[in-house]
Amino acid sequence: MSNQTLGPSVRPTGAGCEWSPTLLEQYHSQGYVLCRGLFSEKELQGVQDELPSILAGEDAEDDLHRERERSGAVRQVYLAHRHNALFRDLTQNAKITAPVRQILKSDCYVWHSKINVKDAFEGTVWLWHQDYGYWQFDGVDPRFVTAMVLLDRATVNNGSLMVVPGSHRWGTLAHYSDAVTTSYKQWCIEKQELVSRVKEEMIVHVTGEPGDVLFFDSNLVHGSGHNMSPLSRNTYLAVYNSIHNKPRPVENPRPDWVVARDFEVVPLT
Ligand code: SIN
Ligand code: MN
Repeated sequence: MSNQTLGPSVRPTGAGCEWSPTLLEQYHSQGYVLCRGLFSEKELQGVQDELPSILAGEDAEDDLHRERERSGAVRQVYLAHRHNALFRDLTQNAKITAPVRQILKSDCYVWHSKINVKDAFEGTVWLWHQDYGYWQFDGVDPRFVTAMVLLDRATVNNGSLMVVPGSHRWGTLAHYSDAVTTSYKQWCIEKQELVSRVKEEMIVHVTGEPGDVLFFDSNLVHGSGHNMSPLSRNTYLAVYNSIHNKPRPVENPRPDWVVARDFEVVPLT
């Protein structure tokens, strides 16, 4: 079946917030796990209520970093985990950080965080890539986990994330830099690599509801389309790096909003 949506609910099992060996095994074999309903409507209400003022704010006033679409609409907001208490609490929530520690087998710090915004009839494409396609130039190894928290319903029409299960085992594919498709310079997988590896029936749309959380590997092939729908598609992505994988010096270090120099270990809560 092509363009399938994900199957039945997966919830964390076992004591506390740790994942079961089966769920961990699923993560390592597929390169991702979708935890449906990890956060309730009530738990998410606070961060959802913060969004309008975060989106309307100015970097100079609140120290966040915003990327914008060509239209001027906000495309991404970085640094909410540092400057907003509710996003900081979400980033440190054990329902996310306990499995992240299990996956990384170490303590971790926040590499960066971003609210990815796709306004109704506005948000634009993320071309096929691996996150490590961006981060490979930052002096680190691929020892990351990203937790993508759905803040809105994600549908095929509003540009839900697409993933290729198992593609993290392909290693890091050749990427090129695209500065024309969107306002944001994207690192994208070379077309030849895509043609030879990605078959239509492999593509899975991560559709879901607010409170669902996708955990994924930094070499998982993923992307997403335009928002062609009247529904906004906002998500929050917190990226965790192993504390043993701090960046080595590189020729062109990127700014702290995207490659954090704050190595504070995410506390056990
Ligand atoms: C998206 O927001 O659809 C893309 C997220 C990502 O590439 O990490
Ligand atoms: Mn990505």
